[in-house]
Amino acid sequence: MTRLAVARPRMPAAETLLPYLRRIDAQRCYTNFGPLVAELEARLAERLDLDPACVASVANATAGLTLALRSVAGGRAGVCVLPSWTFVATAHAIAAAGFPPFLVDVDEGSWALTPAIALDAVARIDGPVAAIMPVAPFGAPVDIAGWDRFTALTGIPVVIDAAAGHDGLRAGDTPCVVSLHATKILGAGEGGYVACRRPELAIEIRKRSNFGFYGARDAEVAACNAKMSEYHAAVGLASMDVYAADIARFRSVARHYRERLGGRTDIEWQPGYGTDWCGSTCVARFAGADRDRIAARLDAAGIDSRAWWGSGVHGQTAFAGQPRLPLPTTERLARETIGLPCFVDMGEDEVARVCDVLDGAARVALRKAA
Ligand SMILES: Cc1ncc(COP(=O)(O)O)c(C=O)c1O
Repeated sequence: MTRLAVARPRMPAAETLLPYLRRIDAQRCYTNFGPLVAELEARLAERLDLDPACVASVANATAGLTLALRSVAGGRAGVCVLPSWTFVATAHAIAAAGFPPFLVDVDEGSWALTPAIALDAVARIDGPVAAIMPVAPFGAPVDIAGWDRFTALTGIPVVIDAAAGHDGLRAGDTPCVVSLHATKILGAGEGGYVACRRPELAIEIRKRSNFGFYGARDAEVAACNAKMSEYHAAVGLASMDVYAADIARFRSVARHYRERLGGRTDIEWQPGYGTDWCGSTCVARFAGADRDRIAARLDAAGIDSRAWWGSGVHGQTAFAGQPRLPLPTTERLARETIGLPCFVDMGEDEVARVCDVLDGAARVALRKAA
């Protein structure tokens, strides 16, 4: 039996790119905020009911997070608070913006850093807090209105890492940064965008992604080059053309998993996964189990799985020494969650193959853990 991969990204086929590539040939504009980038930003903005000026494309989400953080918190002193339960890119982006990352725990039900946890952290951290960077865990929508209120109440700026969150994204005053990496639900190969209701923030991001230039060739602020090219915008536009069909397929994979494992009280899904929103990964939580044992069972059956976020940021060598509050929920999630095979054209029979193994694996893991 062939090995089942944990992810098999599928980007738009060459023939669907051709009309966009021909436009690039005709226009002879290849980057520097060209017409395809403008069209992609406008289409993303329309989806969020925003003015096109409110969406800024970037070369990738990591750079977008750094630029957004510098834009909202530049000049402030103190640490930037983030959940340890995230992909390490969140911490890299904070460090690149010049803030020491400070790791905190997440909420047991949503797997996210919430405004309530952040308020508690601000009270407990010794010293100033420059900014907060919550994360949309595996694409789950975050409480954008709650974060808008948090900033209004505390004066502390927030940037939301919604790297996997394109599907469930809502716009607020707090900037959200989305990844368009090939593994994401909407892909451009590499790329990302920053969205919020404040057009002046999008201008800041564009400036900081383009050597500090805005209008004139004068570097107004410290900056880098993190612009999206017209070629990446072409792929992003072609992905948007088939998004409705792709998201329906991802939702059906999620539905098959949930139906097939529906009788299991030890398996937990993120609230609304596959019904209210969907991501390109499928992460299941096995209460009280040990994910390494489950992964070993799957592996023996020719099925790949992935601990997408390892043991959290505090388990990564580069950030092991960062200051942090106690992380009991992060540690539990790291032990109990596992990324299962999930891809756009995954068949119901392939989902069943994974679930057959899980039926035995989780029970064995539970017995050993007991
Ligand atoms: C939570 C999170 N933040 C940031 C990133 C980085 O996104 P990019 O690859 O576009 O830089 C990822 C990528 O998977 C992610 O999962």
